Amino acid sequence: MLVGHASAAGSTREIAERIAAGLGDVADVVVRPLGPDVDPDEFDAFVIGSAIHNQEWLPAAVAFLDRGRSTLAHRPVWCFSVGGAAPRGPVSRAIIRMELERIAKSFPPGLVPRDHPVFAGIVVVDGLPLWGKLFWLALGGRPGDHRDWPAVDRWAADVATALAELRRDGARSPAHPLRPSPGS
Ligand SMILES: Cc1cc2nc3c(=O)[nH]c(=O)nc-3n(C[C@H](O)[C@H](O)[C@H](O)COP(=O)(O)O)c2cc1C
Repeated sequence: MLVGHASAAGSTREIAERIAAGLGDVADVVVRPLGPDVDPDEFDAFVIGSAIHNQEWLPAAVAFLDRGRSTLAHRPVWCFSVGGAAPRGPVSRAIIRMELERIAKSFPPGLVPRDHPVFAGIVVVDGLPLWGKLFWLALGGRPGDHRDWPAVDRWAADVATALAELRRDGARSPAHPLRPSPGS
C-alpha cells in the first residue's frame, strides 16, 4: 500500500507517516512524497493526502491522481486533507464541507475515495495574504500546531480494519483487486 503525501511545510508528511505507522500490521506500507517518480502500478491500495492551499490540494497530489487514474479506479483509495481549521462549530464545519466539495472536483471522474477526512495541521499566519488571515480568523483559528494525533490514529485504525476486510474478501474472490498473489 502507498501512503502518498503532498506537503509544503511538513505537517502533512508527518501525518502521513503517523497513518503509515498505524497501518503497518495489515499491509506492506510505503510512505512517499507524491512526485513523478511514484508509479501507481506498484501498489494495490492507496492512502493519498495533501495539504490544502487556497481551498485546493497541492498540484503534486492532483497530478498523481490524474496520472494514476486508470489504476486508482480499480483499487481501494482513501484520501485525507490537512488544513488550518479543526472542524469545530457550524461555520467551520460548513467551510470544510465546501473545501472538500471543491477538492473532490479536482479528482479524476470516477475516483471516489472510501473516506476523506480533513485533519487540522500547523498554522503559520505570518506568510498569509490578508484574505487568508481573515479567513482563518473567521474560523476562530489560532496560529500553532493543531494536529489531533488521537484522531489521526483512530482513522488509521479504521483504514486498517477496512483493508483487512478487503484482503479477507480478496482471498475468497478471484477477481478481487486485493487478491493475494499465489504463494503470498
Ligand atoms: C498559502 C497557504 C494557503 C492556505 N490555504 C488554506 C485553505 O484554503 N484552507 C485551509 O483549511 N487551510 C489552508 N492553509 C493552511 C494549511 O493547510 C496548513 O497550514 C497545513 O498544515 C499545511 O500543511 P503542510 O505543513 O503539509 O504544508 C493554507 C496555508 C498556506 C501557507
